[in-house]
Amino acid sequence: MERLQKVIANSGYTSRRKAEELIINNHVKVNDEIINTLGYKVNKDDLISIDGNIIEKNLKKEYYVINKPREVLCSVSDDKNRKCITNYIKTDTRLYPVGRLDYDTIGLVILTNDGDFANILMHPKNKILKTYVAKINGILKEEDFAQMRKGILIDNRKLIIDHVKVKKIDKNKNTSLVEVTIHEGRNHIIKKLFASLHYDVLKLTRIKLGNISLGTLQSGEYRPLTKNEINEFLIKK
Ligand code: URA
Repeated sequence: MERLQKVIANSGYTSRRKAEELIINNHVKVNDEIINTLGYKVNKDDLISIDGNIIEKNLKKEYYVINKPREVLCSVSDDKNRKCITNYIKTDTRLYPVGRLDYDTIGLVILTNDGDFANILMHPKNKILKTYVAKINGILKEEDFAQMRKGILIDNRKLIIDHVKVKKIDKNKNTSLVEVTIHEGRNHIIKKLFASLHYDVLKLTRIKLGNISLGTLQSGEYRPLTKNEINEFLIKK
């Protein structure tokens, strides 16, 4: 027996969090009966449907990394018809992005139909490291590094910086490239981090997530994750 929201997420229909919302909001039926409690358990013979669509329980799991271009949404659809990250990947499976990058942020995004895998990557307890390169309008000072070492209060919660390194300085243009590694997934967190030090982020790229690197993927290019890359996350379960 398995929890209903887990079975829905594993079917690739949506993430576990969204599955929970669907259940609570009366969209889910098990054997023709609406189930709206999260603890409900189902077995492999139960017929589960969402808004009348029967879910496929033993879906082949797919995992990709893509280099997200600018002006693309980390979403499966958009009511304003903007480009979505899922449009880039040629597959019959319904994929969804794990976490979000801003519309103007580029770089590494994982897409999958495996709800458990997505959960592992997103769960704060797993402290998955994320590395970004930010181009900022200035040059970091010693006091900025001192603040970053202490952790920076953002929206009343401390952000721990796992690693920071200046990669390049352009004194003429007064800009620099800074590589920052954190293990949090709050929205706009890197822009907020630099804003709190009084810098603007001019360009932001995510280059690494856990053991997965962007490598040589060009903008809009993607590749399947390797078995090793997938398994390294799954052992955190
Ligand atoms: N931090 C940001 O500010 N934006 C992103 O897209 C990701 C992290």
